[in-house]
Amino acid sequence: MLQKKMKVIGLMSGTSADGITAALTLISEKSLQVLRFKTFPFKKEMREKILGASRLNLKDISRLNAELGILFSKAAREISKGHKADIVGSHGQTLWHGPGDNPPNTFQIGEPAFIAEEMNCPVVADFRPQDIASGGQGAPLIAAFDQFLYGQGTLRAVLNIGGIANLSFVGKNKLWSSFDTGPGNCLMDLAVRILSSGKKSLDRNGILSAKGKSNPEKIKEWLKISYFKKSPPKSLDKNEFGEKFLNEHFGKLKPENLPDILATLADLTAQSIAQAIEDFAPQKVSEVIVSGGGALNPFLMRRLSAALKPIPLVSAQERGMPVMAKEATCFAWMAYRAFNRLPNNCPAATGARGSRILGKIIYPPK
Ligand SMILES: Nc1ncnc2c1ncn2[C@@H]1O[C@H](COP(=O)(O)OP(=O)(O)O)[C@@H](O)[C@H]1O
Ligand SMILES: [Mg+2]
Repeated sequence: MLQKKMKVIGLMSGTSADGITAALTLISEKSLQVLRFKTFPFKKEMREKILGASRLNLKDISRLNAELGILFSKAAREISKGHKADIVGSHGQTLWHGPGDNPPNTFQIGEPAFIAEEMNCPVVADFRPQDIASGGQGAPLIAAFDQFLYGQGTLRAVLNIGGIANLSFVGKNKLWSSFDTGPGNCLMDLAVRILSSGKKSLDRNGILSAKGKSNPEKIKEWLKISYFKKSPPKSLDKNEFGEKFLNEHFGKLKPENLPDILATLADLTAQSIAQAIEDFAPQKVSEVIVSGGGALNPFLMRRLSAALKPIPLVSAQERGMPVMAKEATCFAWMAYRAFNRLPNNCPAATGARGSRILGKIIYPPK
């Protein structure tokens, strides 16, 4: 058993491309503490570049890999101020996730060598490929962390609402399953971005959606989409719920319809999550614990709470984890495990053939 606590920085940028979330943590094999965390927002140009990465050529992707590596290294430097980090775990930025392709593949960038040079400590990065190579979906990696955090309690649904929403059923000493339920904030963010010509990136605090009227007929139709019906393990690339989806279902977006569109999309997120719990929970769950940026949208939380009734919805904050810190903290924890040669994957969630130590290590210059 490893008793020694290590100071570990976790770095994450999710499908929303809102920014790099960094967490400074103190971790041992049995304990974990978040000392501080912060999201360093991307400049508009960088966000656009990431979100439009499928249109970049090879030279520009290679450059983006370096640019992001440098931004990740700056985030690590900032969050570590006044502390000496022992290791850094960096998820990077997913440009492509294709677990269903032949052969299955996944692609994260944000060159970790820059972080090792800046921080002068080992960096663990690129966690997903080995899960794919061992027959898994490469996602959701957070399942192992959910098991660490909540495995001992009653059976609960642990939900993270980023660009995509992810759910784990965990408790009674095991992880039952973990999968992407469908869209989280990605469609709402996209509608706002399109109608503001890129000036706005989100419906902050759900102000606009609260003024809108949701369309229950549309949601009923959408919930029949095959992804929602598919049994776990399953994971999603956000392109499945992207511009094409909006165009197909709303036609040309009109500014005057934005509140109604947002209210409808918030309900799609809320109801697809509630349906996933109804369809796939192995037994009755005692509560739903929510984290991720979606937890900061009061309108979405109201709709979700209504859709889940009578199951109580609680914020991860009330269960000891700041909502925006969870994913970054997960990659600090995964790095800690990898660095100490402890398995950090979750075959029950991803379908991998067995236990693995995910992540590649970059050693520092010293
Ligand atoms: N105050 C807020 N009001 C409404 N939505 C918010 C707020 N803060 C964050 N969000 C939503 O959360 C997203 C970022 O969440 P995050 O957990 O970082 O997702 P990801 O892992 O995809 O990057 C934003 O793009 C936005 O949709
Ligand atoms: Mg984010």
